Amino acid sequence: MAAADLVQRILLIGPPGSGKGTQALRLSQKYQIGHVSTGDILRRNTQKGTALGREAQQFITSGDLVPDRLIFDMLEDLYKRADGEHQGFILDGFPRSENQAEALSEFLESRGQRVSAVLLLELADDEIVERLVHRRTCSRCGRSYHLKSSPPTSEGVCDGDGTSLVWREDDHEDVIRHRLQTYHGQTEPVVAFYGKRGVLHRIDACQSIESVTLELSAIMDRLAHASRGDSH
Ligand code: AP5
Repeated sequence: MAAADLVQRILLIGPPGSGKGTQALRLSQKYQIGHVSTGDILRRNTQKGTALGREAQQFITSGDLVPDRLIFDMLEDLYKRADGEHQGFILDGFPRSENQAEALSEFLESRGQRVSAVLLLELADDEIVERLVHRRTCSRCGRSYHLKSSPPTSEGVCDGDGTSLVWREDDHEDVIRHRLQTYHGQTEPVVAFYGKRGVLHRIDACQSIESVTLELSAIMDRLAHASRGDSH
């Protein structure tokens, strides 16, 4: 049995392309907990042409953060999707600013809850550019591939559901560089925010996908073990 049998509320943060989506999917399957990505929700809304999607589109395309007011409006729904059935979650790519981190803390505290751990995937900018310009993504299930290191079995098609793979508009080099500036300027303060609260774990994301999963799993297993100890 996987060890996350006590509720774990995990934040997976890190620069664009550091592997958040890849790892969140693996961990949520392994530990049977919810996984929600704000980026995926926003993209689905842009595809459907909802009011949220229409407003968010320009920010995503240019590599800027979507304004906090739109993200805060999503918070309740985000939480229900993530925690609803599973009792525990991985939030992928949220929070991305100190304001968002404060809002999440208040939101959870009002429910008598708190973040169990923040897992930070660290990767150098040049490696990120290399990963993202070669990334292709399934527009239906969100699964991502790397054209050189983890290509799909059949060219241009998702192994999982056979949908055509797309090259995300924000995975072109000029936009990737801008996303990195946004990350360093606006999201890095979130790292300090959680560092001060003693819940931050740094992981070297420049290892194989499997090695990163093992390292993250070891942290989650230790947390579950510690909470079992606390509850006795
Ligand atoms: P979002 O979709 O969340 O983009 P991101 O954070 O920039 O992250 P990515 O999805 O690009 O990368 P990832 O870290 O998930 O890496 P992946 O696993 O795919 O957000 C998009 C936009 O939405 C933002 O720019 C913003 O505008 C907006 N937004 C979202 N959330 C917001 C918020 N909270 N507030 C405001 N705005 C928000 O891996 C990348 C590639 O590398 C893949 O090809 C993968 O196969 C490969 N790979 C993964 N791990 C490894 C490995 N260990 N070794 C080799 N290759 C690997």
